[in-house]
Formats: sequence, C-alpha cells, structure tokens
Amino acid sequence: MKDALGSVQSILVLGGTSEIGLAIARKLAEPRAAHVILASRKPDETVQVGGRTSTVPFDADDVDSHRAFVADVFDTHGDIDVVVVAFGVLEGSAADIGRTNYLGAVSVMEAVAERLTQQGHGEVIVLSSVAGERVRKSNYAYGASKAGVDGYAQGLGDSLAAAGAGVHVLVVRPGFVKTKMTAGMDPAPLSTTPEAVAAATAKALAKGADVVWVPGALRFVMVAMRHLPRPVFRKLPF
Ligand SMILES: NC(=O)c1ccc[n+]([C@@H]2O[C@H](COP(=O)([O-])OP(=O)(O)OC[C@H]3O[C@@H](n4cnc5c(N)ncnc54)[C@H](OP(=O)(O)O)[C@@H]3O)[C@@H](O)[C@H]2O)c1
Repeated sequence: MKDALGSVQSILVLGGTSEIGLAIARKLAEPRAAHVILASRKPDETVQVGGRTSTVPFDADDVDSHRAFVADVFDTHGDIDVVVVAFGVLEGSAADIGRTNYLGAVSVMEAVAERLTQQGHGEVIVLSSVAGERVRKSNYAYGASKAGVDGYAQGLGDSLAAAGAGVHVLVVRPGFVKTKMTAGMDPAPLSTTPEAVAAATAKALAKGADVVWVPGALRFVMVAMRHLPRPVFRKLPF
C-alpha cells in the first residue's frame, strides 16, 4: 500500500534483468526505499535495487505458470503497489517475438490485474514502444507484438477504470533506448536512456497519465508518421 505521501512501498518487475525495468524500479523505489521484487529467468544474476530486493524465477514464455506465479508472489510478499511489465525481445522468429512480447505479456497482465483488483489498488506499468504505433517494414514482427500489447494494456486500463477497481495502467512508449537490447545498433533520432524513461514514467505516474511517450516529442512525430500515405511510408529508410 502506498504511504501517506503517495510513495510506493513495493514494486514487482517482470523481466527483472531489463535495464529500463530496473531504472524504473530504482526511480520509484527512491523516496521510501521501497521493496523491489525482481522476477526473471536469471534470478541469480539480478542486482540490488531499492531498500530491499527479492528475486523470483519467472519465464514470460511459460504462460501456463503465470497464474500460479502471480498468486505465489502476492501470497509471499503481500500487497504490491506497482507492477512493471518490462520483459521483451527484439530479435527472433515472428513466433518467438509474439510469444514473449504479446502472449507472455497479456497472460501475466491478466493474472496481475485480477490480483491487484482483489487488493483494491495498484499500478501496472507496461513497456510498449513507438514501434507499435505504426508498424514499420524493418521490424514488423516486433512492432506488431508491441501494437498488440499496447492495445491490450489500453483496454485493460479502461476496463479497470470503468469497474472502479482502483487499479491503473500506464502505457510507456519509448523510442530508441540505449540498453543491451539495442547494443550495436545505430541510435535512432531522439534516442534516450533508461534513466530518462524512468524519470518520464515516474512523472506520468504521479500525474495519473494513461500513456507516456519518451521523449515527449515522439508523440508528435508519430502522429505525423501514422497519417503518412502508405506509398510514402513504404519509401522511408526504416
Ligand atoms: N531498448 C529500446 O530501445 C526499447 C524501446 C522501446 C521499448 N522497449 C521495451 O522495453 C522493455 C525493456 O527493454 P530493455 O531496453 O530494458 O531491454 P533489455 O535490457 O534487453 O531487457 C529485456 C529483458 O527481457 C527479458 N526477457 C526476455 N525474454 C524473457 C522471458 N521469456 N521471460 C522473462 N524475461 C525475459 C530479458 O531477460 P534475460 O536476462 O532472461 O534475457 C531482458 O533482460 C522491452 O519490452 C522492450 O521491448 C525497449
């Protein structure tokens, strides 16, 4: 449960080795040295974040385990204020990318939303991407997976708000972020850092925003991009 000042006391990061996920956890944990639970495929390789760090094994691709996984985390650690859905892959077959980024994300979010609804409060932060706003020829399997998860997260947020569940969903749409996911790639224009994504996310959360673009200028770039006629869009060099 958030304290009287609205600071979060417990954070669950799904994809607990994600550089963006860790930066967000660090930022949100700062004010009250919150308890951070890092859920990842490599629980032995996780770092210390926040006032106290716990680790738990989690595989986004193992959708059959998600319900029991979520029940176990909440039963073990009690109320959780913020859940960050941070795992993701950029490379691989369309099926691999879709399995992790879309199927894994919606599967675990469904279980998380149920549990947050039962406790009557909570925030879900979902790492979407500008890549989902208009799917590009250079990374259409990834873009389509992000378009899917973005749509699911928005619908989930609307549904929880309409039900008065006390649970809020924040969709984060970064552009190019310098992390191990993009290592070796040429930074795209308006590229940013995990810390900048974390700062923008914390600000958006405090405002109760439903969507945040990082950097903010990408919102306007993508409005233009979204409306480009297809023959023009197709000729763009990405
Ligand atoms: N970097 C960017 O430019 C960018 C831009 C927009 C959106 N995003 C999104 O932001 C999120 C975080 O990305 P990041 O930049 O922080 O990249 P990252 O450091 O590579 O983090 C992604 C993490 O996902 C984890 N993961 C992959 N498959 C998994 C699975 N089946 N189960 C559990 N964990 C799994 C990986 O963990 P392992 O250690 O187990 O491999 C990895 O640490 C992703 O959803 C990404 O799509 C990134």
